[in-house]
Amino acid sequence: MEKLEGRVALVTGGAGGIGLGMALAFKGAGMRVAIADIDAPRLAATAAAHGLHPVQLDITRAESWDAAVAEVEASLGPIDLLCNNAGVMQGRFGDGTPIHLADMPETLFRTVVEINLTGSFLGVRAVVPGMIARGRGHIVNTSSMAGLIAPGGLGAYAASKYAVLGMTESLRAELAPQGIGVSVLCPGAVESELVATSAARHAATRGETVPLEASRPVSYHRMTAEAVGARVLQAVRENALYILTHPDYAPLFAERAAAITAGFGAPAEPGYSEPEMVLTRSRNPEYARAAHKET
Ligand SMILES: NC(=O)c1ccc[n+]([C@@H]2O[C@H](COP(=O)([O-])OP(=O)(O)OC[C@H]3O[C@@H](n4cnc5c(N)ncnc54)[C@H](O)[C@@H]3O)[C@@H](O)[C@H]2O)c1
Repeated sequence: MEKLEGRVALVTGGAGGIGLGMALAFKGAGMRVAIADIDAPRLAATAAAHGLHPVQLDITRAESWDAAVAEVEASLGPIDLLCNNAGVMQGRFGDGTPIHLADMPETLFRTVVEINLTGSFLGVRAVVPGMIARGRGHIVNTSSMAGLIAPGGLGAYAASKYAVLGMTESLRAELAPQGIGVSVLCPGAVESELVATSAARHAATRGETVPLEASRPVSYHRMTAEAVGARVLQAVRENALYILTHPDYAPLFAERAAAITAGFGAPAEPGYSEPEMVLTRSRNPEYARAAHKET
């Protein structure tokens, strides 16, 4: 989307961290920016401090989306840029040990998937029909490096973020013919309060009986949310499919890609080959376009 000035952006999870970094970058580009969040006090404080339009939203509820979109469009105008960014980590147990899938409470797994994946889907469904009607717009979904590689101890989180990646790639193929851009943000470590906000959400959403770690000392420098926001702004202008802010992970992703490619051997049924038309239907032309940096 090249013309951004005067257009409206809605950023979920905008009360802090990466969402706020994006909101400030969009504001700097002359956009009218609404930040949406479930955390009312944090939302009000951030909106007041930065001159952003606050809107209360629980991304896991369709009716909450309908109300938030109606409020933003009545106050600021039609939404041309939606960032589905609100999310939660799966966290760790209270003593700091990672939560492996075999020990994970069902409620924790469901909450991670419901917020990170279903919440982003509901955002697409609430906003994209208006974009299609207007013939313009852009969606950015926040996945993670854990949407591209999955180390142990991140089972639920990686499952949800891989799913956001797959959903976004499919969405891009669906919306390209409509003139609507779609990007997916996959950051590594970024400064934010994600450990604390995730623990609070797990406690509030499902009344977790297992106490989770609510804070974690960080002994290394993390990327600033402002820098990530500036990169997202550039990607929206260029309609980049993948927004990859941390190139140090490229070799780790290459290992995974090589492992999967190596897994393709002979067909399970000797002599079988998939019909050409099935392969054609399975192809997403957006991969080749992104590889050649066409937008
Ligand atoms: N910080 C990192 O290192 C990092 C790395 C990769 C991906 N991410 C992703 O970036 C996104 C933003 O996280 P952040 O690190 O800026 O943390 P953050 O805690 O600053 O932002 C997350 C926000 O989402 C909000 N939220 C949670 N559930 C919600 C709901 N149901 N409805 C509305 N709002 C809700 C929280 O209140 C919070 O303000 C998340 O999707 C996260 O998974 C973060």
